[in-house]
Amino acid sequence: MRQVNLGIIGAGTVGGGVVQALERNGALMASRLGVRLHVARVAVRDLKKKRGVSIPQTILTTDVGSVVNDPEIDLVVELIGGTTLARTLTLDALKQGKPVVTANKALLSAHGEELFAAAEQFGANLYYEASVAGGIPIIKVLREGLIGNRITRIYGIVNGTCNYILTRMKLEGADFADVLADAQRLGYAEAEPSLDVDGYDAAHKTGILASLAHGFWVNPRDIYVEGIRNITKLDIRFATQLGYTIRLLGIVKKIAPAKGSPKGESQIQVSVYPTLVPDSHVLASVNDVFNAIYVRGDVVGDTLYYGRGAGQDATASAVLSDLADAALDLKCGKSRVPPFVPHERKGAVLKMDDIICRYYLRLTVVDKPGTLAKIAAILGEASIGISSVIQPEGHEGKSVPLILMIHDAKNSAMRGALAKIGRLGVIKAPPLMIRVENFD
Ligand code: NAP
Ligand code: HSE
Repeated sequence: MRQVNLGIIGAGTVGGGVVQALERNGALMASRLGVRLHVARVAVRDLKKKRGVSIPQTILTTDVGSVVNDPEIDLVVELIGGTTLARTLTLDALKQGKPVVTANKALLSAHGEELFAAAEQFGANLYYEASVAGGIPIIKVLREGLIGNRITRIYGIVNGTCNYILTRMKLEGADFADVLADAQRLGYAEAEPSLDVDGYDAAHKTGILASLAHGFWVNPRDIYVEGIRNITKLDIRFATQLGYTIRLLGIVKKIAPAKGSPKGESQIQVSVYPTLVPDSHVLASVNDVFNAIYVRGDVVGDTLYYGRGAGQDATASAVLSDLADAALDLKCGKSRVPPFVPHERKGAVLKMDDIICRYYLRLTVVDKPGTLAKIAAILGEASIGISSVIQPEGHEGKSVPLILMIHDAKNSAMRGALAKIGRLGVIKAPPLMIRVENFD
């Protein structure tokens, strides 16, 4: 049986999981593929570190370059994270014609186009199933399963850490900082957890999904990003009272061309922000570290993909899928599915200011006559309608939360109105705005 020698770079949460999963199911995979996957070299930062998986000292090294350049290594598996060394070693491997498997969404978001071009130039493939949504095979879904569809909507819960935090804040009333520490301990969070809680990890993933769905590589700078840091238990409580659950959503929407726009120019919304999801919608019941991606195609209609979005085993499962594809490509001597096929050169990302949606507003106001009138006047001047109001009783003369649900309005109009509201003397803390999704 043919053997493919793996050079695994990084043996932390994901790399360790891959070694473990290969020990467990390597023979099964060999019988399914007709190719044996052999862990030949493993690069780490610290040789003395205690690991959850046993790796023979003879194959361990700290010299990343020696793994990439070793002529015995057929396939490089990049699992160190970051965008500097990871980019260099991925390019070095591709230049030698060696295929690379990566779980690194930050790398793809920042350097995807360069890496795909190198893959094409040097005839080596790049595989990245584990980069989005942990164990859910969503890259395969978009690139293969739904290839005959125009994708009109993607709504994704794609960050396990944020979903875990929001779920525990809602169900247990837990504190943000405590739950984040648990997510780190469980191996869900990035080495730099602000990538998770400030929405950037979800943006990297949403950009990858948008690019695959719409055929032009989305520049991460064009993605509007808000994280979950400002969401409080109070917002979660009011959202529940109003029949909603707060989720960090990656949203990719094809927007009908505005009147007078050049023919054929497609515009898409690509954004990540905390969203009020109606409790009746399936995404509202996706809890803990689970991810779910709702994809609408013009032929298939609505589809949903669900599974663990982070953590050792879920991510290892996605890496194994890429290892299998890479091994089969090596066996048959060609890359059967290229990493990314650009096909929509004219695509453009719609500016956030132009996006129209509904909103939840939490204002901290002084409960005194005229407060609501002043706020309503500013919203009215901007032609922004209020659909409902909640203010807890019994706070006369004192600070109180005032919750306003707002009808459809342009983001630019809301931003302008909120700036004015924030300057009112009756406003005692910066206003908080959360967008509401109606999944039309
Ligand atoms: P991790 O636990 O921090 O592991 C990183 C590994 O890389 C460690 O083994 C570390 O060595 C090694 N490493 C770092 N810098 C190195 C260097 N300069 N030279 C040699 N080895 C180096 O990270 P992780 O959670 O496994 O994540 C790895 C990648 O997978 C990231 O791109 C991440 O975004 C992605 N990912 C993670 C998850 C998840 O749930 N954790 C899910 C999907 C994708 P030491 O062990 O010696 O420190
Ligand atoms: N930190 C990421 C998350 C890992 O929590 O979703 C999976 O990509």
